[in-house]
Amino acid sequence: MTSQLPILDVCCGGRMFYFDKHDPRVVFMDNRVVSPEKLSNGQTFSVCPSIVGDFRKIPFGDASFNMVIFDPPHLLRVGEKSSSISSSDMISESSL
Ligand SMILES: C[S@@+](CC[C@H](N)C(=O)[O-])C[C@H]1O[C@@H](n2cnc3c(N)ncnc32)[C@H](O)[C@@H]1O
Repeated sequence: MTSQLPILDVCCGGRMFYFDKHDPRVVFMDNRVVSPEKLSNGQTFSVCPSIVGDFRKIPFGDASFNMVIFDPPHLLRVGEKSSSISSSDMISESSL
């Protein structure tokens, strides 16, 4: 796969890094899609990647982008009702 855009965000999640969540320079990638849902703090959360993919098998060749953003999952355990499951994600067993 090739891209005309300069930036790849391989774990975009809810795009919380961005003032402009539709920044036209970015290819947003994540391995999941989450429909908009209301969090306990009243904010709406969704995961809507431009491409669904796994960062262990990125579907672009080397040097395809000027910048790659990588904010990987970092939680081993959270409570089942925690909003962190929605807003951040856990490391899956298969990744360990
Ligand atoms: C810490 S969050 C990223 C938060 C994001 N930077 C933001 O601004 O909202 C980690 C993300 O990695 C995604 N993820 C987990 N395993 C992945 C994989 N193998 N490939 C791609 N994304 C993955 C999760 O779905 C989650 O959205």
